[in-house]
Amino acid sequence: MTKPPLTLYLAAPRGFCAGVDRAIKIVEMALQKWGAPVYVRHEIVHNKFVVDSLRDQGAVFVEELDDCPVDRPVIFSAHGVPKAIPAEAARREMVYVDATCPLVSKVHIEAARHHENGLQMIMIGHAGHPETIGTMGQLPEGEVLLVETVEDVAHVEVRDPQQLAFVTQTTLSVDDTIDIVAALRDRFPAIVGPHKEDICYATTNRQEAVKAIAPDCDALLVVGAPNSSNSRRLVEVARKAGCPYSQLVMRAENIDWRALEGIASIGVTAGASAPEVLIDEVIDAFRARWDVTVKLVETAQENVEFKVPRVLRIPA
Ligand code: F3S
Repeated sequence: MTKPPLTLYLAAPRGFCAGVDRAIKIVEMALQKWGAPVYVRHEIVHNKFVVDSLRDQGAVFVEELDDCPVDRPVIFSAHGVPKAIPAEAARREMVYVDATCPLVSKVHIEAARHHENGLQMIMIGHAGHPETIGTMGQLPEGEVLLVETVEDVAHVEVRDPQQLAFVTQTTLSVDDTIDIVAALRDRFPAIVGPHKEDICYATTNRQEAVKAIAPDCDALLVVGAPNSSNSRRLVEVARKAGCPYSQLVMRAENIDWRALEGIASIGVTAGASAPEVLIDEVIDAFRARWDVTVKLVETAQENVEFKVPRVLRIPA
Protein backbone atom coordinates (compact mmCIF):
# COMPACT_ATOMS: atom_id res chain seq x y z
CA MET A 1 0.00 0.00 0.00
CA THR A 2 1.40 3.42 -0.91
CA LYS A 3 1.79 5.79 1.98
CA PRO A 4 0.24 9.28 1.79
CA PRO A 5 2.71 12.17 1.38
CA LEU A 6 3.60 14.28 4.42
CA THR A 7 5.81 17.35 4.68
CA LEU A 8 7.61 17.37 8.02
CA TYR A 9 8.88 20.82 8.98
CA LEU A 10 11.77 20.30 11.37
CA ALA A 11 12.55 23.37 13.46
CA ALA A 12 16.13 24.44 14.13
CA PRO A 13 17.36 25.24 16.68
CA ARG A 14 15.55 22.62 18.76
CA GLY A 15 16.41 20.31 21.66
CA PHE A 16 19.43 20.49 23.93
CA CYS A 17 20.79 23.89 24.94
CA ALA A 18 24.26 24.58 26.31
CA GLY A 19 23.02 24.63 29.93
CA VAL A 20 21.40 21.19 29.65
CA ASP A 21 24.39 19.76 27.86
CA ARG A 22 26.67 21.02 30.62
CA ALA A 23 24.41 19.73 33.42
CA ILE A 24 24.35 16.20 31.96
CA LYS A 25 28.13 16.30 31.46
CA ILE A 26 28.54 17.33 35.10
CA VAL A 27 26.66 14.24 36.32
CA GLU A 28 28.58 11.93 33.96
CA MET A 29 31.95 13.42 34.94
CA ALA A 30 31.06 13.27 38.64
CA LEU A 31 30.27 9.56 38.25
CA GLN A 32 33.61 9.04 36.53
CA LYS A 33 35.48 11.01 39.16
CA TRP A 34 33.87 9.76 42.35
CA GLY A 35 32.14 6.53 41.24
CA ALA A 36 28.51 5.63 41.99
CA PRO A 37 26.39 6.64 43.69
CA VAL A 38 26.38 10.35 42.99
CA TYR A 39 23.30 12.15 44.33
CA VAL A 40 21.40 14.71 42.28
CA ARG A 41 19.00 17.10 43.99
CA HIS A 42 15.93 17.36 41.72
CA GLU A 43 15.81 16.03 38.13
CA ILE A 44 19.07 17.32 36.63
CA VAL A 45 17.03 18.51 33.63
CA HIS A 46 13.31 17.97 33.06
CA ASN A 47 13.44 14.87 30.88
CA LYS A 48 12.65 11.34 32.02
CA PHE A 49 14.76 9.71 29.30
CA VAL A 50 17.84 11.69 30.41
CA VAL A 51 17.16 11.06 34.10
CA ASP A 52 16.63 7.31 33.56
CA SER A 53 19.84 6.94 31.58
CA LEU A 54 21.86 8.76 34.28
CA ARG A 55 20.16 6.64 36.94
CA ASP A 56 21.33 3.55 35.04
CA GLN A 57 24.88 4.90 35.30
CA GLY A 58 24.62 5.29 39.09
CA ALA A 59 23.03 8.69 39.73
CA VAL A 60 20.46 8.80 42.55
CA PHE A 61 17.78 11.49 42.18
CA VAL A 62 16.34 13.00 45.36
CA GLU A 63 14.28 16.08 46.14
CA GLU A 64 16.00 17.32 49.29
CA LEU A 65 19.50 17.63 50.64
CA ASP A 66 18.35 15.65 53.71
CA ASP A 67 17.92 12.64 51.41
CA CYS A 68 21.65 12.66 50.52
CA PRO A 69 24.24 10.95 52.73
CA VAL A 70 26.91 13.42 53.81
CA ASP A 71 29.73 11.23 52.52
CA ARG A 72 28.58 11.15 48.87
CA PRO A 73 28.84 13.96 46.30
CA VAL A 74 25.66 15.86 45.47
CA ILE A 75 24.85 17.83 42.33
CA PHE A 76 22.38 20.70 42.11
CA SER A 77 20.18 20.76 39.00
CA ALA A 78 20.44 23.11 36.01
CA HIS A 79 17.44 25.13 37.23
CA GLY A 80 19.36 26.60 40.17
CA VAL A 81 18.84 26.35 43.92
CA PRO A 82 18.08 28.76 46.75
CA LYS A 83 21.26 30.11 48.36
CA ALA A 84 20.55 28.20 51.57
CA ILE A 85 21.07 24.81 49.86
CA PRO A 86 24.77 25.03 48.93
CA ALA A 87 25.34 26.85 52.24
CA GLU A 88 23.85 23.88 54.10
CA ALA A 89 25.86 21.39 52.02
CA ALA A 90 29.02 23.31 52.91
CA ARG A 91 28.03 23.34 56.59
CA ARG A 92 27.66 19.54 56.43
CA GLU A 93 31.09 19.41 54.73
CA MET A 94 29.60 17.63 51.72
CA VAL A 95 31.21 17.55 48.29
CA TYR A 96 28.80 19.36 45.98
CA VAL A 97 28.79 20.52 42.39
CA ASP A 98 26.44 23.21 41.20
CA ALA A 99 25.04 22.44 37.72
CA THR A 100 22.97 25.64 37.66
CA CYS A 101 23.02 26.96 34.09
CA PRO A 102 25.38 29.95 33.92
CA LEU A 103 22.55 31.99 32.39
CA VAL A 104 20.42 31.30 35.48
CA SER A 105 23.38 32.15 37.74
CA LYS A 106 23.63 35.46 35.90
CA VAL A 107 20.04 36.25 36.96
CA HIS A 108 20.90 35.27 40.55
CA ILE A 109 23.79 37.74 40.50
CA GLU A 110 21.56 40.49 39.05
CA ALA A 111 18.98 39.94 41.80
CA ALA A 112 21.64 40.03 44.53
CA ARG A 113 23.17 43.22 43.08
CA HIS A 114 19.83 45.06 42.99
CA HIS A 115 19.11 43.93 46.54
CA GLU A 116 22.49 45.25 47.72
CA ASN A 117 21.62 48.57 46.09
CA GLY A 118 18.50 48.71 48.24
CA LEU A 119 15.99 47.88 45.50
CA GLN A 120 13.02 45.61 46.10
CA MET A 121 12.88 42.78 43.54
CA ILE A 122 10.02 41.61 41.37
CA MET A 123 10.43 38.30 39.57
CA ILE A 124 8.44 37.45 36.46
CA GLY A 125 8.13 33.67 36.53
CA HIS A 126 5.96 30.64 37.19
CA ALA A 127 5.12 29.88 40.82
CA GLY A 128 6.54 26.58 42.01
CA HIS A 129 8.99 26.10 39.13
CA PRO A 130 12.42 25.15 40.53
CA GLU A 131 14.09 28.04 38.70
CA THR A 132 11.69 30.55 40.28
CA ILE A 133 12.23 28.97 43.70
CA GLY A 134 16.00 29.11 43.17
CA THR A 135 16.09 32.72 42.00
CA MET A 136 13.71 33.96 44.71
CA GLY A 137 15.80 32.01 47.21
CA GLN A 138 18.87 34.14 46.45
CA LEU A 139 17.42 36.83 48.70
CA PRO A 140 15.92 36.69 52.18
CA GLU A 141 12.38 35.33 52.40
CA GLY A 142 9.76 37.86 51.29
CA GLU A 143 12.24 40.11 49.48
CA VAL A 144 11.22 38.96 45.99
CA LEU A 145 7.66 39.51 44.78
CA LEU A 146 6.46 37.11 42.10
CA VAL A 147 4.28 38.17 39.18
CA GLU A 148 3.05 35.64 36.63
CA THR A 149 0.67 37.70 34.50
CA VAL A 150 -0.18 41.23 33.39
CA GLU A 151 -3.10 41.10 35.87
CA ASP A 152 -0.69 40.33 38.73
CA VAL A 153 1.19 43.55 37.94
CA ALA A 154 -1.92 45.59 38.70
CA HIS A 155 -2.19 44.08 42.19
CA VAL A 156 1.38 43.74 43.36
CA GLU A 157 2.09 45.79 46.49
CA VAL A 158 5.56 47.27 46.65
CA ARG A 159 7.44 49.09 49.43
CA ASP A 160 8.51 52.06 47.32
CA PRO A 161 7.76 52.43 43.59
CA GLN A 162 10.99 54.44 43.23
CA GLN A 163 13.15 51.59 44.56
CA LEU A 164 12.29 48.61 42.39
CA ALA A 165 13.98 46.19 40.01
CA PHE A 166 12.86 43.11 38.11
CA VAL A 167 14.32 39.85 36.84
CA THR A 168 12.66 37.06 34.85
CA GLN A 169 12.75 33.30 34.58
CA THR A 170 14.91 32.29 31.59
CA THR A 171 12.37 29.98 29.93
CA LEU A 172 9.28 32.19 29.59
CA SER A 173 7.29 33.03 26.49
CA VAL A 174 9.11 35.97 24.89
CA ASP A 175 5.87 37.60 23.71
CA ASP A 176 3.96 37.20 27.00
CA THR A 177 6.93 38.57 28.90
CA ILE A 178 7.14 41.67 26.71
CA ASP A 179 3.56 42.46 27.80
CA ILE A 180 4.31 41.87 31.50
CA VAL A 181 7.47 44.02 31.36
CA ALA A 182 5.50 46.77 29.60
CA ALA A 183 2.85 46.62 32.34
CA LEU A 184 5.55 46.86 35.02
CA ARG A 185 7.25 49.83 33.33
CA ASP A 186 3.87 51.46 32.90
CA ARG A 187 2.89 51.13 36.54
CA PHE A 188 6.40 51.69 37.95
CA PRO A 189 8.27 53.98 35.53
CA ALA A 190 11.38 54.00 37.78
CA ILE A 191 11.75 50.20 37.77
CA VAL A 192 15.23 48.96 36.91
CA GLY A 193 15.73 45.79 34.88
CA PRO A 194 17.55 44.09 32.05
CA HIS A 195 17.35 45.80 28.66
CA LYS A 196 14.53 43.42 27.59
CA GLU A 197 14.24 40.44 29.95
CA ASP A 198 16.38 37.52 31.13
CA ILE A 199 14.94 34.95 28.73
CA CYS A 200 17.92 32.95 27.46
CA TYR A 201 19.16 32.60 23.89
CA ALA A 202 17.98 28.96 23.69
CA THR A 203 14.40 29.74 24.74
CA THR A 204 14.26 32.70 22.34
CA ASN A 205 15.68 30.77 19.39
CA ARG A 206 13.40 27.75 19.86
CA GLN A 207 10.34 30.00 20.01
CA GLU A 208 11.44 31.89 16.87
CA ALA A 209 11.91 28.62 14.96
CA VAL A 210 8.43 27.44 15.98
CA LYS A 211 6.91 30.74 14.84
CA ALA A 212 8.57 30.25 11.45
CA ILE A 213 7.05 26.79 10.82
CA ALA A 214 3.72 26.90 12.70
CA PRO A 215 1.69 28.76 10.02
CA ASP A 216 2.58 26.04 7.44
CA CYS A 217 1.76 23.09 9.67
CA ASP A 218 -1.55 21.21 10.00
CA ALA A 219 -0.26 20.02 13.36
CA LEU A 220 2.89 20.52 15.43
CA LEU A 221 4.53 18.31 18.03
CA VAL A 222 6.93 19.48 20.70
CA VAL A 223 9.10 16.70 22.08
CA GLY A 224 9.47 17.46 25.75
CA ALA A 225 8.30 16.74 29.29
CA PRO A 226 5.14 18.14 30.89
CA ASN A 227 7.24 19.72 33.68
CA SER A 228 9.60 21.41 31.21
CA SER A 229 8.72 25.10 31.19
CA ASN A 230 10.39 25.94 27.87
CA SER A 231 8.73 22.95 26.14
CA ARG A 232 5.27 24.00 27.31
CA ARG A 233 5.91 27.52 26.08
CA LEU A 234 6.72 26.12 22.62
CA VAL A 235 3.27 24.50 22.46
CA GLU A 236 1.64 27.84 23.33
CA VAL A 237 3.81 29.73 20.84
CA ALA A 238 2.83 27.31 18.05
CA ARG A 239 -0.87 27.74 18.81
CA LYS A 240 -0.59 31.52 18.85
CA ALA A 241 1.42 31.46 15.63
CA GLY A 242 -1.38 29.74 13.75
CA CYS A 243 -1.19 26.00 14.37
CA PRO A 244 -4.17 25.11 16.55
CA TYR A 245 -3.27 21.41 16.96
CA SER A 246 -0.04 21.68 18.89
CA GLN A 247 0.85 19.04 21.46
CA LEU A 248 3.61 18.08 23.84
CA VAL A 249 4.82 14.47 23.48
CA MET A 250 7.46 12.82 25.61
CA ARG A 251 8.14 10.06 23.07
CA ALA A 252 6.75 8.61 19.83
CA GLU A 253 4.54 6.24 21.84
CA ASN A 254 2.60 9.27 23.19
CA ILE A 255 1.53 10.52 19.77
CA ASP A 256 -2.23 10.53 19.25
CA TRP A 257 -2.30 9.18 15.67
CA ARG A 258 -6.07 9.48 15.40
CA ALA A 259 -5.88 13.22 15.89
CA LEU A 260 -3.38 13.41 13.02
CA GLU A 261 -5.48 11.54 10.45
CA GLY A 262 -5.65 13.38 7.14
CA ILE A 263 -2.85 15.87 7.79
CA ALA A 264 -0.54 16.88 4.93
CA SER A 265 2.09 18.67 7.02
CA ILE A 266 3.49 18.32 10.52
CA GLY A 267 5.90 20.50 12.50
CA VAL A 268 8.41 18.95 14.88
CA THR A 269 10.55 20.64 17.49
CA ALA A 270 11.87 19.83 20.96
CA GLY A 271 12.33 21.59 24.27
CA ALA A 272 15.80 22.38 25.58
CA SER A 273 15.95 19.25 27.73
CA ALA A 274 14.90 16.72 25.05
CA PRO A 275 17.69 14.66 23.46
CA GLU A 276 17.92 14.36 19.67
CA VAL A 277 17.43 10.57 19.85
CA LEU A 278 13.80 11.18 20.90
CA ILE A 279 13.25 13.51 17.94
CA ASP A 280 14.66 10.86 15.58
CA GLU A 281 12.28 8.36 17.15
CA VAL A 282 9.32 10.67 16.45
CA ILE A 283 10.41 11.25 12.83
CA ASP A 284 10.80 7.47 12.32
CA ALA A 285 7.28 6.93 13.65
CA PHE A 286 5.98 9.36 11.00
CA ARG A 287 8.03 7.62 8.29
CA ALA A 288 6.36 4.34 9.22
CA ARG A 289 2.94 5.83 8.41
CA TRP A 290 3.57 8.46 5.72
CA ASP A 291 5.86 9.11 2.79
CA VAL A 292 7.76 11.85 4.63
CA THR A 293 9.68 14.74 3.10
CA VAL A 294 11.69 16.51 5.81
CA LYS A 295 12.13 20.27 5.41
CA LEU A 296 14.62 21.75 7.84
CA VAL A 297 13.76 25.32 8.77
CA GLU A 298 16.70 26.96 10.50
CA THR A 299 16.14 30.43 11.95
CA ALA A 300 19.38 30.74 13.96
CA GLN A 301 22.69 29.02 14.49
CA GLU A 302 23.92 28.28 17.99
CA ASN A 303 27.50 27.81 19.09
CA VAL A 304 27.19 28.45 22.83
CA GLU A 305 29.17 26.14 25.09
CA PHE A 306 29.67 26.29 28.85
CA LYS A 307 32.63 24.87 30.74
CA VAL A 308 32.01 22.38 33.53
CA PRO A 309 33.09 23.49 37.03
CA ARG A 310 36.80 23.34 37.73
CA VAL A 311 36.46 20.61 40.37
CA LEU A 312 35.53 18.17 37.60
CA ARG A 313 38.36 19.23 35.33
CA ILE A 314 41.06 18.27 37.81
CA PRO A 315 41.80 14.60 38.49
CA ALA A 316 40.53 13.03 41.74
FE1 F3S B 1 20.30 27.65 30.43
FE2 F3S B 1 18.48 28.55 28.80
FE3 F3S B 1 19.15 26.06 28.73
S1 F3S B 1 18.81 29.18 30.90
S2 F3S B 1 19.62 25.57 30.83
S3 F3S B 1 20.50 27.79 28.24
S4 F3S B 1 17.10 26.82 28.48
